[in-house]
Amino acid sequence: MTIAVCPGSFDPVTLGHLDVFRRARSLADELVVLVAHNSAKQALLSVQARVELIRSATAELDGVRVQAVSGLLADALRELGADLVVKGIRGGADFDAELPMALMNRHLSGVETVFVPGDPALAHVASSLVKDVARHGGRIEDLVPAGVAEAVRSALTSGESR
Ligand code: PNS
Repeated sequence: MTIAVCPGSFDPVTLGHLDVFRRARSLADELVVLVAHNSAKQALLSVQARVELIRSATAELDGVRVQAVSGLLADALRELGADLVVKGIRGGADFDAELPMALMNRHLSGVETVFVPGDPALAHVASSLVKDVARHGGRIEDLVPAGVAEAVRSALTSGESR
């Protein structure tokens, strides 16, 4: 049985992520979505909120598990017995950011990363832009799965930051 892992900060999960989850699931028997901490970013939503939003967004996809990871992704990959990491690529900037992580994760765990081109219709959808649009009062409902827009707005209103 092959296990694919989609790691990310998913702050928040977007329709672009969901597209990549579906593609990753088609490459393996099971997909584990891992919500991890990115030390370069200050999160808006708590890890638990992000896990729950992704669980709800993937509820109708068979063979998908969602969990949080604290610590190194490479350690989690070994513990899960992961066969591959799958990352979505929207363009050259994504590739430049992802390649060093793929090389480091392979160095530490031996697990290969597969880059999957996402749906070009969603190439402009990034968590950081979604938060910025919401922060300035714009509509994000058509960029994120159901329930996510409310969670983002509520976190912005309460001034929450993780
Ligand atoms: O969605 P992101 O923020 O681009 O995802 C990056 C993430 C969270 C996958 C990366 O920062 C990560 O793997 N964090 C866990 C700690 C770790 O393993 N760091 C070394 C990465 S090579």
